[in-house]
Amino acid sequence: MNEFMAFIGGGNMAQALIGGLLQSGRPAASVLVVEPDPAQRERLASRFGLAPLAQAGPALATARTVVWAVKPQVFAEAAAACAPHVGGALQVSVMAGVRSDSITRATGSAAVVRTMPNTPALIGQGIAGLFASPAVDAAARAEVAALFAPTGQALWVDREDDLDAVTALSGSGPAYVFYFIEAMVQAGSEMGLSTEQARQLAQATFAGAAALAMQSPLSPSALREQVTSKGGTTHAAITALEAAGVKAAFVRALHAARDRAAELGRA
Ligand SMILES: NC(=O)c1ccc[n+]([C@@H]2O[C@H](COP(=O)([O-])OP(=O)(O)OC[C@H]3O[C@@H](n4cnc5c(N)ncnc54)[C@H](OP(=O)(O)O)[C@@H]3O)[C@@H](O)[C@H]2O)c1
Repeated sequence: MNEFMAFIGGGNMAQALIGGLLQSGRPAASVLVVEPDPAQRERLASRFGLAPLAQAGPALATARTVVWAVKPQVFAEAAAACAPHVGGALQVSVMAGVRSDSITRATGSAAVVRTMPNTPALIGQGIAGLFASPAVDAAARAEVAALFAPTGQALWVDREDDLDAVTALSGSGPAYVFYFIEAMVQAGSEMGLSTEQARQLAQATFAGAAALAMQSPLSPSALREQVTSKGGTTHAAITALEAAGVKAAFVRALHAARDRAAELGRA
C-alpha cells in the first residue's frame, strides 16, 4: 500500500485524491506529483507537505501506480514526457474521454483503470464510475477503490462504453442539480422571497429529498406520488412540468451528454 504513487497533474481532482490518501495514513514522502505550474506546486507543498516535480523524470519509475489528472487535451504531451518511466505501473485516469487503449499506447502499460469522478468529490461526497482493463488484477482494483473511498462512493462498470453514460449521469450531473436550484431560486424570488431565503429553501430541499430517496425502500416515483395528492399544489406543479415536456427534454439532455462523451473519446 505504501509503494510510491505518482500524480501527473496536481490540480483540483489530484488534490481531492491526495488529501484523502494522506488522511488515511499514507506518508507524504510516498506521493510524487508532476506539476508544471509554480503556484500550484506551492499550494501542494503548503497544503500537503509535498515536494512536487516541475517535470517528469526518472523518479517516476519508483511509482507502482500513476494517476493521470491532467486535462485530456494535454494528455499526449504529458504522456510523452512520462512514458520512459511509467510503463511498469498501474495507470489510473480521471481524464474525461481518454480511452484505455490510448492510455496503454501512450504509457506502454496494459493495466489501466479509467474513472469518472464528479465535483462533489472535492468535499468527500462524490460518486465515481470506474472501469478496469482486463490486465488489472483484484489487488489493483482494491487499491483504486481505496484511493477513491475518501472522495465518496464508487461504482464499477464492466464495459468501457458505460463510462460515457456515467459521464452523462453523475459526471455532468452536478450541473443539472445546480440548474434546477437556479430555477427554484428564480421562482422563489419572483414570488417575493429574498434570494438567500429561496436559495436556502432550494438547496435544503435537494439535500433532504436526495437523502430521503437514498434511505427509503420506495422508488423515486413512489416517493413523488406520496407527496402528490390529486388537485393539490404538487399536482399543479407536476402537471405543468409534464405539459411542458420537461421530463422528456431532460432525458434527451442526458442522451446528448452521453453522445458528446462518446464523440470526445473518439477524437
Ligand atoms: N474537477 C472535477 O470535478 C472533475 C470531474 C470529473 C473528471 N475530471 C477530469 O479530471 C481531469 C483533471 O481535472 P482537474 O479539475 O483536476 O483539472 P485542473 O485543476 O486543471 O488540474 C490539471 C493540472 O494538471 C497540470 N498540467 C498541465 N499540463 C501538465 C503536464 N504536461 N504535466 C503535468 N501536469 C500538467 C495543470 O497545470 P496548469 O494549470 O499549468 O495547466 C493543472 O494544475 C480532467 O480530465 C477532467 O475532465 C475532473
